[in-house]
This record gives sequence, structure tokens and C-alpha cells, in this order.
Amino acid sequence: MNTAPERYGLIGTGSRAGMYIGATIGDHADVATLVAWADTNPGRLDYYERQFTDAALPAPTRYPVTDIERMVTEQKLDRVVVTSPDFTHAEYVSRALLAGADVVVEKPLTTDADGVRRIHAAMQESGHDVITTFNYRYSPRNSSLKRLIGSGAIGQVTSVHFEWALDTVHGADYFRRWHRYKANSGGLLIHKASHHFDLVNWWIDAAPVRVFASGGLRFYGAENARARGLGERPERGTGHADHDPFSLDLSHDAVHKGLYLDVEQNDGYLRDRDVFDEGITIEDNLAVLVDYDTGATMSYSLNAHSPWEGYRVTVNGTEGRAELEVIERGAVLIGDDGRVVVDPSNPNSNPVAAAGDERDRTDLRPNGERLILQRHWEAAQEIEIPDGIGSHGGGDAYLLDHLFHRTQVDEPLHRVAGFADGVRAVSVGIAANRSLETGAPVRYIDLDLGV
Ligand SMILES: NC(=O)c1ccc[n+]([C@@H]2O[C@H](COP(=O)([O-])OP(=O)(O)OC[C@H]3O[C@@H](n4cnc5c(N)ncnc54)[C@H](O)[C@@H]3O)[C@@H](O)[C@H]2O)c1
Repeated sequence: MNTAPERYGLIGTGSRAGMYIGATIGDHADVATLVAWADTNPGRLDYYERQFTDAALPAPTRYPVTDIERMVTEQKLDRVVVTSPDFTHAEYVSRALLAGADVVVEKPLTTDADGVRRIHAAMQESGHDVITTFNYRYSPRNSSLKRLIGSGAIGQVTSVHFEWALDTVHGADYFRRWHRYKANSGGLLIHKASHHFDLVNWWIDAAPVRVFASGGLRFYGAENARARGLGERPERGTGHADHDPFSLDLSHDAVHKGLYLDVEQNDGYLRDRDVFDEGITIEDNLAVLVDYDTGATMSYSLNAHSPWEGYRVTVNGTEGRAELEVIERGAVLIGDDGRVVVDPSNPNSNPVAAAGDERDRTDLRPNGERLILQRHWEAAQEIEIPDGIGSHGGGDAYLLDHLFHRTQVDEPLHRVAGFADGVRAVSVGIAANRSLETGAPVRYIDLDLGV
């Protein structure tokens, strides 16, 4: 039976929006049509509008961000995708729900407890649904660990040890723009680690009950730069990146140029501010302890200035342990021109992998992934991870497929995340931020989220 594609709206047409726009023009055009959109910067709408012109498709109708309700009703939207900065999510999600649409919101669901309560109230009042997109669940290596734990091979989970290293390309990028202010992003505990906290909730099928956190800004920011004697820093990277691995030159990359540099006169959004600036309010080193309702515990750490990028997770169980090690980029290398050898529009691009056989033979950190199972009284064995497609460790392509086809949550690995999953993921960061402020552990029930 042929049914008409669903009608979509989009709020926030920056970098992440490109994936959803591309999907509605390309692979998922049979089930989803993007008919309306809104952004505070008309230049970014112009940028993406060219993709519709090139595909000979009608461009979505533009609405001011103050007119979300009219956008939903006039355009009879089935769904609204929210890809604006984190601090705006609660407002746009609630308004779209109350105006009569279902919502797909990029992680994080929101940045604080008020945001959770606001979205929950709007869902209850409207009867509409919210999906938070957790693409990391879909990458084959993470799905493989979920399958392994679910098989019972390590018995009942007793504890998790999880370390995430963001390198001086990807990690540094959170200190250049809106993410660098806690009020905008909730800091890396919300903006970045909500991915990781969601993975653990999902891997071990547990809900967080108590959180303790410690950390600070110890590498980026003006004070650290002064303490290390870094000297005068440029206000922005464009024009400086040739000799400075911490600077990003927007003119070197077509996407950065078109989406940010060429349109910054409209709103003053500078995408390339210096990572050693004054006034940064987020942390770059974080440690978190989490207790779960199953009795398991997690020790988690995040570092945002590592020389390599990837993660290690160990899951201990009553029958043995599972260990997943992922090296996404084994090193950040500097080319002959003094510039970092990474595709700036894709912070996950990999100069080490690209170098192939010519890579330095002394490199001890080849890119790759390895899942090990070791049961008590047995030798360790490697568990095969199937190949993935697309970016984010193969996560994005599967996510889009489930999302646009509205796959139900009874999918065997339960990868489709609903509102409750979005809340559970962000609740760890909300509690951890409160713990950073007070120096004390924070219980989930004391967050009073109403969910
Ligand atoms: N799942 C993932 O792996 C992933 C990756 C990247 C980003 N994200 C999420 O996507 C969202 C957007 O991130 P991004 O990297 O695309 O940021 P971005 O800065 O590139 O894009 C944000 C867009 O929102 C617009 N905007 C700013 N203020 C607005 C407002 N008040 N109302 C409406 N629009 C506004 C900006 O003009 C810009 O076009 C964030 O919530 C981020 O966490 C998720």
C-alpha cells in the first residue's frame, strides 16, 4: 500500500541538520518530505536551500523562529525535527508538541530539570510523542556489546568502567562556540556525555539512582593558557590555523565557509573562536560515579584534550567480563604546512587511517575496535563486530532508517530511544552538574523531574 510521505518541519539548520535534510531529499524521500523550516540566521537557510534547487525540489517554506505554532498548523506537520542549540530544545520541543506535531530532538533532550518538566507537561497535554536520537546505540560495536551482555555470557552486571577520550581536534571544538558556556550546552556532562550515559543505561538495562561528580577546566581557557605561558592568542582561528594546531580556519573548508564564515554578519556567530579565551564556563576533565537501580555502579571519565580519540569500556559481571576498546583516531598529526591533518568539516576524519601502510611503524595505537569476552576459568575470546555504514561508527544510517520508518521500540536490541530514555540519559548529567556545584552526591529522585 502506498501512503503519502509524512510532512516534516525543521528548527535549527546548522551542521547537524544536514544529515536530516540530506535524508529527506535522498534515501528517505519516500516516507518524509521537509516542507518547512526555521532558523535565526537566514544565510544558513540559503545554504541548505541550494540543495533543494540542485535536486529540482521545492524549497521548504521559511518561518520566523517566533512562529513555530503557525509553521506546524499551516503546514499540517506530522513531525518537527529540532537541531538548534541545546538550550533551545525545551522551548521548541514543547511548542511543536502543543501545536500538534510529534517531535524528533537531537541529543541532549534538554539541559536542565526545568526543561525536562516543561517537555513532559507538553507531551501529557498534547498526547504527542518525542524521540531523542541516540545514534551511538546503532553503531555495530555498541550493538555488539549490548547483544553480548544480553546473551548472559558475563552473568549479572555488577559494575562498569568507562573512559572517553576526546582529542585536540574534536574535543577542542566544544570550546570554540556556543557549547563553551554552561548555560547553552549544560557542559560536556550534558552535551557530550548524555550519549555515553545513554549507552550505559541501555547496555546494562538500568536506571541511574545516585550520581557524584568531580572535574574542572584544566587545559582550555585563558587562565590555563596563562599558567602554561602560551602568550598572546588570536581572537579567532581564521587566518591563523597554518601555524597553530588549536586554531580552526573556516576559509579552508567549503562547508565551514558556506555555513558559518560567509553568513556570520547576520548574527555574529563566530564558529572559530579561540579555545584559550576568557569566560569559558564548561569543564574539560570530568569524573563521575553512578549507582544504578540494579545494584551496579559505573566509574566514568571524560577528557577533552587527549592526543588520541576513542573509548574503553569494561563491564564486569558475575560470570566474567566484557571489554570494548575503540580507537577512532590514533593520533592528531601536523602536516608540513603546520596545519592539523584532519578534514575540518568532519572532526571524525582520520589522518592515521588515511596514511595506511605508510604509517609510522612505531605507532602503537592503530585505529580500530576490539570486543573481548572473558568468562571465569576460560581464556579470553574476541567477539566479531559486523561492519557498519556511515558516520558515528556506523550509527547514523541505521538511526535514520528506524527514525523515518517509525520503527517500534520492540526492535530486538531496543535501539529506538523514547522520551524516558532521553530523560534517563540527561538526568545523569543534570545530577552530575548539581554535584559539581555542591560537592555532594545527588539522588535521581531529588531532581524532581516528575518522570
Ligand atoms: N547526535 C550527534 O552526534 C550530534 C552531532 C552534532 C550535533 N548534535 C546536536 O545537534 C544540535 C545542533 O548542533 P550543531 O552542531 O548543528 O550546531 P550549529 O551551531 O551548527 O547549528 C545550530 C543552528 O541553530 C540555529 N540557532 C541558533 N539559535 C537559535 C534559536 N534560538 N532558534 C532557532 N535556531 C537557532 C543556528 O543559527 C544554527 O543554524 C545540538 O543540540 C547538538 O547537541 C548531535
